[in-house]
Amino acid sequence: MDIIPLDDPTEERIARWQAVLTAVHAADPAGDPPPDAADTAAFLRSGDQRLWTADENGETIAVAVLRLPGGPGADRPAEIDIRVHPAHRRRGIGTRLMAVAAEGLRADGRTSVIAQVLAGTPAVPFLESLGFSCVLTLNGMLLRLDDLPPGRVETLVNAGPSAPPPGPGGTYRLVRWRGAVPDEYADALAHAKHAMADLAEYEGLPWNARRVREMAGMVAKRGDDLYTVAAVHGPAVAGFTEVVVPADAPRRAAQYDTAVVPEHRGRRLGIWVKAAMLQWLAGERPEVREIETDIDGDNSHMIAVNEELGYRRLQESREYLGRF
Ligand SMILES: CC(C)(COP(=O)(O)OP(=O)(O)OC[C@H]1O[C@@H](n2cnc3c(N)ncnc32)[C@H](O)[C@@H]1OP(=O)(O)O)[C@@H](O)C(=O)NCCC(=O)NCCS
Repeated sequence: MDIIPLDDPTEERIARWQAVLTAVHAADPAGDPPPDAADTAAFLRSGDQRLWTADENGETIAVAVLRLPGGPGADRPAEIDIRVHPAHRRRGIGTRLMAVAAEGLRADGRTSVIAQVLAGTPAVPFLESLGFSCVLTLNGMLLRLDDLPPGRVETLVNAGPSAPPPGPGGTYRLVRWRGAVPDEYADALAHAKHAMADLAEYEGLPWNARRVREMAGMVAKRGDDLYTVAAVHGPAVAGFTEVVVPADAPRRAAQYDTAVVPEHRGRRLGIWVKAAMLQWLAGERPEVREIETDIDGDNSHMIAVNEELGYRRLQESREYLGRF
């Protein structure tokens, strides 16, 4: 068995890579759509990553991707994804690919790597055997809009917040925008993003208006649509929710950030903005039939909000961190 870097993927090598992904998916579909050959080719030809295959008797039997986000040498963990054909497992091939990827990691000046895996799959004992540790547990949740009882969303929107804003007078209002945040709310939205402490800590970067706009710019660059609904009180954003509708597969939208600023919590603002988002999308993007989200395993409040909206739990996923 040889481990070969895939620096310039040819049609044939891409087809062999796709065959491994297809065999791995067939063995454990985990609810995902099967890998698409055109997506695989586009992915393998994109930058900021290193690729290897494990080949034997003229066949590819395993593949590895080491993503290097932020460009060469960035001070961030890399991301690893290794897939071994089901017929060739427990022969140490995954371990050998990881060793080669670890060399690539060090060559790029990084020392840590993240792997996203599903709980209850061989990936867990595999990564643990290599000394990785679990740093995050995520609950995948899916809302099927066709399963929502008629009138549910309207009832939740009309019910509004359960209490007025703190302090004398005032009410909450809903505002919404597509794409980048309007200038008048840019700083207030950045402030509200601090409410997602887990994300801010993990990425080690503070939220400011520039970063908020950068995130919207990245979504637009991919051709996808970002929708935001916020509950505002005067100039302040008290809570907000974001959904992204992918250009190529608008049937399944992705929930991005949702947060309520601490002093505005306990007023059902989270469920209010999320219900208002569903109402807006129903009119604006009727082709959206599902919304998927990942929630930090400790965030029981957000899980409860989503269950009340009709989301169902999917398989738990985990993030593992390895240091080399
Ligand atoms: C996870 C995966 C990459 C492991 O590949 P592999 O080539 O079978 O792994 P190795 O043979 O190098 O296993 C190394 C050690 O991991 C552990 N391990 C791997 N698979 C295991 C399993 N199914 N059950 C228990 N332990 C397992 C064992 O300790 C094993 O050592 P041993 O065989 O001497 O007991 C493979 O199962 C796979 O492709 N899964 C689907 C894709 C995936 O989830 N990838 C993970 C993303 S990083």
